[in-house]
Amino acid sequence: MISCTKKKPEQFVCDMIIYFVRQVEKGAPTCSHNGVKKQIDLAANSGDFTGKEGQEFLFYPDDSMSLKAKRVPVVGLGKKDLSRETFRKAGGVASRQALQGKAGTLLVVVPVELAFQAGDMAECLAEGLVLGSYQFLKYKKEDEGEKPGKIAKISFYSPKHATAVRRGMHQGLISGRCGNQVRNMANEPGNLWTAVDFALYAKSLALKPRLSCKVLGEKELKRLKMGGLLGVNQGSSQPARLVILEYRTGKKVPTLLLVGKGLTFDSGGISLKPGKGMDRMKYDMCGGAAVMAAMEGVAEEQPENVDVVCIVPSTDNMPGPSALKPGDVITIYGGKTVEVLNTDAEGRLILADALAYGVEKFKPDAVIDLATLTGAVVVGLGHHRTGLLTNDDDLSSSLLAAGERSGEPLWRLPLGREYTKQLESNVADLKNIGGPAGGTITAAAFLEEFVGDAVWAHLDIAGTAWDFTEKSYVPKGASGIGARTLLELIRAWK
Ligand code: BES
Ligand code: MN
Ligand code: ZN
Repeated sequence: MISCTKKKPEQFVCDMIIYFVRQVEKGAPTCSHNGVKKQIDLAANSGDFTGKEGQEFLFYPDDSMSLKAKRVPVVGLGKKDLSRETFRKAGGVASRQALQGKAGTLLVVVPVELAFQAGDMAECLAEGLVLGSYQFLKYKKEDEGEKPGKIAKISFYSPKHATAVRRGMHQGLISGRCGNQVRNMANEPGNLWTAVDFALYAKSLALKPRLSCKVLGEKELKRLKMGGLLGVNQGSSQPARLVILEYRTGKKVPTLLLVGKGLTFDSGGISLKPGKGMDRMKYDMCGGAAVMAAMEGVAEEQPENVDVVCIVPSTDNMPGPSALKPGDVITIYGGKTVEVLNTDAEGRLILADALAYGVEKFKPDAVIDLATLTGAVVVGLGHHRTGLLTNDDDLSSSLLAAGERSGEPLWRLPLGREYTKQLESNVADLKNIGGPAGGTITAAAFLEEFVGDAVWAHLDIAGTAWDFTEKSYVPKGASGIGARTLLELIRAWK
């Protein structure tokens, strides 16, 4: 779908050729192509185009220009310092142009004349193009005549740094696809994406080299005494699953464990949520989707220096006749008891089983869980940053860096005994809510009780999994957050 070409833009036949230019202090932006530069001058003189970030204009080349494309969009990169995010956003703008113009084949002219790493530039342009061209049209009848645009082939042209550009472009393609894969799972409605669908998806991934899959059903969950996942599942008419995917290099390398909340619909259970906006709770499985899509990326890239295991505990949270009730006591894998005072604090219950089991079984060198865990993180950080809570400063730095590089920024919040104390129960080892104060932290403090001495980080993506910061490459609906950060972390793994 993406490749590099040695053909010059003048020789390349396609639907659309895309140029990227910087805004300058005075006058019109410059461009490597003389004919295109003339058009930019015209647009700039008319006041329509300055090259501002996010700005674009489109022209239709005539024969005199010898560009063999119907349309040529020119995308502004702004005048601020260039960053990876600049190119990702520009890729997003370009992809929107392509979809609007129903362009199936694109030529991207990589602006390697700019002072920025060519590999990073190509990576982020590719990523922005792939993420920006995402559409979820599965459940819409196709309009007669009004077919939506679809990008079939993207070619990159770069007169310099061919190796770096090729490598970057390939990486951008993989992480872009990963993000889109998260969106595909997350955008499925609760009735059509259940625990069983997570299991089926994992099984299909396991066909790839070095990947294997194991799915635990009701019988095994009972045998293993996973009272968290089984407890939350009690009110449902759908069976629960604990889905495990393992990427094994076969070498003596560290193991990274990824755990994702796969709550396919969160009604709140007996502690029912208000009706307004409850439909959004189909996205409560975004953590699970993120870790699974990350595994797909790992399988694609086949790293040699790390084994990766992923666990997704999955069920919906429904108020059926056998549902958990406030006051019930359940036993998590490993034996700790929990007094369930609010059945809507269910994510931590299913994650507790998965974390306790994963840490014991796989003895990982690091554990990262992703979950749409608390509304409180939206109050604290809004929709612009994922909450990061961890017991390890090195893992914290690595994750913060990976988030920065992938355009999915994180912000660290504290943990501590004071917060853990809020979870003391009169009847059991713990209660599942810590009161209204510091809700994101007490939720993480709850999880911390189940990871033992493991190096662990928790990402609360409740504010970023949908309604994430408005950007050209982030569509309505699920943002697809998390998988690209994990992939970035694994790429930088030492
Ligand atoms: N899935 C929700 C968290 C959530 C809320 C995500 C809003 C996105 C938007 C989670 O299961 C939940 O209901 N958490 C409760 C916890 C409370 C009962 C302690 C919450 O945040 O209200
Ligand atoms: Mn809930
Ligand atoms: Zn939930």
